[in-house]
Amino acid sequence: MSCRGFSVYSCLFFTCLICWYEATAFKLFHEAVNNRPVIGVLTQIVSDEVMKPFGETYIPDSYVNYIESGGSRVMPIRLTLSTAEYESIFKKINGLFLIGGASDLVTSDFARVAKIFYKLALTANDAGDFFPIWGTCMGMQLLTVLVAGENLLTETTAENLALPLNLTTEAHSCRMFKGFPKELMKAVTEEPLTGNFHKYGLKVKTFQENQKLSSFFSLLSTNIAANGAQFVSTIEGKRYPFYGVQWHPEVNRFQWSRKLNFPHSSNAVQLSSQLAEFFINEGRKSLHHFDSPEEEDSSLIYTFTPVYAANFTAYEQIYFF
Ligand SMILES: *[C@@H]1O[C@H](CO)[C@@H](O)[C@H](O)[C@H]1NC(C)=O
Ligand SMILES: *[C@@H]1O[C@H](CO)[C@@H](O)[C@H](O)[C@H]1NC(C)=O
Repeated sequence: MSCRGFSVYSCLFFTCLICWYEATAFKLFHEAVNNRPVIGVLTQIVSDEVMKPFGETYIPDSYVNYIESGGSRVMPIRLTLSTAEYESIFKKINGLFLIGGASDLVTSDFARVAKIFYKLALTANDAGDFFPIWGTCMGMQLLTVLVAGENLLTETTAENLALPLNLTTEAHSCRMFKGFPKELMKAVTEEPLTGNFHKYGLKVKTFQENQKLSSFFSLLSTNIAANGAQFVSTIEGKRYPFYGVQWHPEVNRFQWSRKLNFPHSSNAVQLSSQLAEFFINEGRKSLHHFDSPEEEDSSLIYTFTPVYAANFTAYEQIYFF
């Protein structure tokens, strides 16, 4: 009897020990902090005639400044490498940022490379290796194509339009807006703080009717296009640290063309800062690293010099590759 009693207790004891160990390991993993994150940015294909003399791919400085403002560094990732090279880069960077632009979302090199990283990120996150992805404008559209396995975009023009966000109920329990001060959360719904520059987008109806998309992402905000269509404007992965905005948080602080409606109010600047810091905090949870300080230094964008571009584009400066 007593022997059995003992084994029951010892069993409980060991079970508890295992639970404690697992809880601690989980906690350690989740609390590990990398304060020197590097975010990978895929270069974008040049399609604008005025930019063609400078290079075939580019990254506007506004995205670089945006990522740096959250306390991270940027590694530009070219679109001409092999799958093995992307797999190697994946183990070194702490997040991926898909910028806006004008590439085909299925057949372009931009889409091909994004898909490689997307698959690596799914596998890594499933295995407890935290790896965040952010998509802005076309970057968000590309995330929806990758998740849905097809291009479901339709015309939802909101061109050069600053809008408030129509937040869903899920927005009030999401991760992306969790750190927002109450006043900012209110301002986001009332003031035109989000710059829109797009012709295509994902209709809310399409999102809700597509099982793959609606089970993968929480819908955090919507907006109305020129044709009256309600489109998806902010999404966040339910299980994965993947985030998308159809609008452009980087313009609020880092683009100044007088011809465009870039929101520059104090609240607009705060919105942009909050989201940059949010995403870089996600990057801090990734423990990927370069093999050596020398390799890290030579991979960063600091070795490139941007070109002054405010007199022929809507960007102040552009990095060409
Ligand atoms: C906001 O979204 C709700 C549903 O989520 C919709 O009924 C309403 O028309 C939207 N309003 C605007 C201004 O987009
Ligand atoms: C833009 O400005 C730079 C620097 O002043 C100048 O070298 C360049 O020719 C200008 N480009 C155009 C297209 O005006």
